[in-house]
Amino acid sequence: MSNQHASAEQALGTTGIVKRGADAAESRVANRIWWDADADDYHETHGDFLGAADFVWCPEGVREDDVRFLGEVAGQRVLEVGCGSAPCARWLKDNKADVAAFDISEGMLRHARVNNAATGIDVPLVQASADQLPFRNDSFDAACSAFGAVPFVADVQEVFRELARVLRPGAPWVFSVNHPMRWIFPDDPGPLGLTVTQSYFDRTPYVEVDDEGRATYVEHHRTLGDYVRALTNTGFVVEDLVEPEWPKGHTRNWGQWSPLRGKLFPGTAIFRTRLTS
Ligand SMILES: C[S@@+](CC[C@H](N)C(=O)[O-])C[C@H]1O[C@@H](n2cnc3c(N)ncnc32)[C@H](O)[C@@H]1O
Repeated sequence: MSNQHASAEQALGTTGIVKRGADAAESRVANRIWWDADADDYHETHGDFLGAADFVWCPEGVREDDVRFLGEVAGQRVLEVGCGSAPCARWLKDNKADVAAFDISEGMLRHARVNNAATGIDVPLVQASADQLPFRNDSFDAACSAFGAVPFVADVQEVFRELARVLRPGAPWVFSVNHPMRWIFPDDPGPLGLTVTQSYFDRTPYVEVDDEGRATYVEHHRTLGDYVRALTNTGFVVEDLVEPEWPKGHTRNWGQWSPLRGKLFPGTAIFRTRLTS
C-alpha cells in the first residue's frame, strides 16, 4: 500500500497487506476491481508518458518504434494483452497491423474508448482475462504486452498456454514485466528501495485486503527461471531477455522506478519469445 494509490485504496476499503495464496478466481476479481478503481489516477499520472498512440514498453522509455521487437507488423494480426487504454494497439494499427486488444478492467477500457475517439484510431477492444482468452485457435500472428496482465494472474503458465492456442506457429510473443529481482526490495523509488527485505525465492503473492480479508489487489512473483520454464513448457522459445538500462538524463519516476534505482539494477524484463513452428 502506498500514497500513490490512495484513492483506489479508499474506494476499495483496503486496510492492509498480507502474504498469502490467491487463486486464479480471487486474483481476477481483485485485479479487476483494483484497476477499475485506479484507472483515472493511472492515466492522470502516466497518460502523457504513455501517449495515446505510442508503444512504450516500460518506465525506462523503450519504444517499439525504435526497437521493433515484434518485427514487421504491417498486415499482421496482433493481439495486445492487458492493454489498459491501448496506446500500443493504436500504434500497431497506425503501423498497419490488424490489431485486437483486451483488458480485464472496464475502467481501463473506458480510457481506451476515450482515446479511440480522441485519436480517430479505433482499435477493437474486448473485456477478458489473460488466462481465459475468448479467441479462436491460430487467430493471431503476434502478441504483445507492456506490463499487462502477466504479473497479476495466479497461473502464468495458463496465460502462455492460452496464447500458444490463439497464436499461429512461429508467432512472436513479446511481453514486459517488473524485473523479478525487484521483488526482494520494497516498492520505493528512494533509498528505502535499495535494501533487501524479502527472499527472491518466496513466491507467496503480495495481497492487499479489506477489513474482512477480501483481496483488493494481488501481485504474483515468478523468478526468471519460473518464467523460462512456463514459456518452454507451453511451446515458446526464449530468443532474448532484454533488461533495459536507465537512460542518461531520464529523470522521471514511475512508482518504484527511479533514476536512483535504475542506475544500480534492472526494473524491467522484456521477454522476446516465439511459438515453436
Ligand atoms: C500496469 S497496467 C498496463 C496497461 C498498459 N499495457 C499500459 O502500458 O499502460 C496493467 C494492466 O493489466 C490489466 N490486467 C490485470 N489483470 C489482468 C488479467 N487477468 N487479464 C487481462 N488484463 C489484466 C489491468 O487491468 C491493467 O490495465
